Formats: sequence, structure tokens, C-alpha cells
Amino acid sequence: MGAYYDTIAEQYQKSSQLPVRRYVEEYTYLNLLGNLSGKSILDLGCGEGSYTRKLKQLGATRVVGVDISEKMLFLAREKEDKEPLGIEYILSDVTTLGSIGSFSLVVASYLLNHAQTKEQLLKMCQTISANLEPGGRFLSISSNLSQPPSSYPICEKYSFTKSISSPLQEGTPITVTFKIDGQKFSLINYYLSLHTYESVFHSVGFKEIRWHPPRVSPEGLQKFGQDFWQDFIDYQPIVGIEISKLN
Ligand SMILES: C[S@@+](CC[C@H](N)C(=O)[O-])C[C@H]1O[C@@H](n2cnc3c(N)ncnc32)[C@H](O)[C@@H]1O
Repeated sequence: MGAYYDTIAEQYQKSSQLPVRRYVEEYTYLNLLGNLSGKSILDLGCGEGSYTRKLKQLGATRVVGVDISEKMLFLAREKEDKEPLGIEYILSDVTTLGSIGSFSLVVASYLLNHAQTKEQLLKMCQTISANLEPGGRFLSISSNLSQPPSSYPICEKYSFTKSISSPLQEGTPITVTFKIDGQKFSLINYYLSLHTYESVFHSVGFKEIRWHPPRVSPEGLQKFGQDFWQDFIDYQPIVGIEISKLN
């Protein structure tokens, strides 16, 4: 997995400029995160650190980023070296990280959808739980695995595609391809049912699981218009996840 992201790290970094990432993904995610002042945050699957840095800029006192890809972390550390914010980065597989502290918030954008099996998802969630203080929250933005494949073609308007080569069942790979500046790059997500996700969340002691629809920022609406975004709102290719940990 790490080696794969090493090959697309720079292209992935560039994709943060896409209108859909900026005006929908980021807006939805930052709204979910809410007020971060005074929070200690663990960012799992932090990638090249764009969101990791935002967490610190939005007032978090301590931010630690973890990723399995050396190249993604290289890009994250490069930004940290240029403009230090005091973020710590750790190269590790989330499934084997264990407890490295007690955080008020654990976040993970587009990490869980890399779990290929229920067991892998469980290991990721055990890591989340092991690093959350009692009553802490887990927040995530993720590919919406429940999006019906018949609606995948609507994604093209937003500069990406989703495709499958066999019907959705546990572990089916979903290829997500981004198009940016005339170039394409792909990454693979894996389908696991909503039932699997919720049973894993419950088994590690999470409660109050909320699935949030994507929201378009006022700026995005003004620039592109409601009509442009309507398919995204109707078919929800991405989803926000908010969970509390039992005390
Ligand atoms: C789509 S990128 C998202 C990066 C960043 N969170 C963002 O939203 O921009 C997914 C990241 O998850 C990382 N990743 C996937 N599986 C992982 C695992 N088991 N442990 C740690 N990182 C993992 C990849 O290396 C990659 O950087």
C-alpha cells in the first residue's frame, strides 16, 4: 500500500486543487471538525499533510500525522521544514501502530476505504480506539461505499471516475481515477458493506455513529451554480463519518 502511494504522491497532492476537493470535500470535512482550539489530534493516513497542517492552523495544540507511504510523508515533512508548525510525523501502518497517546480527536480522511477485509477494518478501528481519550471523537471523510454503481458516471463531471470490474461484494476493488491538468492517476478503494462498518465500530466500543452527506461551500455554489453540484448532492460519492467513543 505504502509503495503504491509512493508512486502517485505528487499527483495526489496536486488533486487538492480540484474544485470538488476544495468546495465539497474540504468544506464538509472542516465543518465536521468544528472548533479545534485546544485539541490534540491524531491524523491517521495523513498523506502529504494538507489536512494535517490545516488542523494545526485551525488551533489544535498538538497534531501527529501517521502514514504508511514514505513519499507522502516526505512531502508532508518538506512542508513542515519550510514552514514549521510543530507537527510530528510517523511512518507506520495504521493497523499495527498501537497506542501512541491519548488524543481528544482522531481523524482519518480516505483511510478506512483502504481496508480490504473486515479484519483490516477492525485493526484500523482498534488503533483509532486505542488512541482516543474516553469521550473523544473520531471524524473522517471517506469514499461513500454505499453509492450505487449505476450512479458512478456522475462523478466524471467532477474530474474523477469510479469503476468496478465485478459486482459489489465484500472486498471488491473500486478504482478511483482522477483527471487533473490532462493527466490521470488512480487509486484503489475496497467495498465493505455499511453493516460491516457499523458492526466493527460497535465492536471497538464506538457509539453514536453518524454518516454525514457532503455539503457544497457557498463559494463553490457561487462559482459553479447549484445545477452543477446537484448530482454530487443527490448521489453522494463521499461521506463524512462522526463517532464518539464510550466513556
Ligand atoms: C487518499 S490518501 C489520503 C491522504 C490524506 N488523508 C488526504 O485526505 O489528503 C490515503 C492515504 O492513506 C495512506 N494509507 C493507506 N493505508 C494505510 C495504512 N494501513 N496505514 C497508514 N497509512 C495508510 C496512504 O499511504 C495515503 O497516504
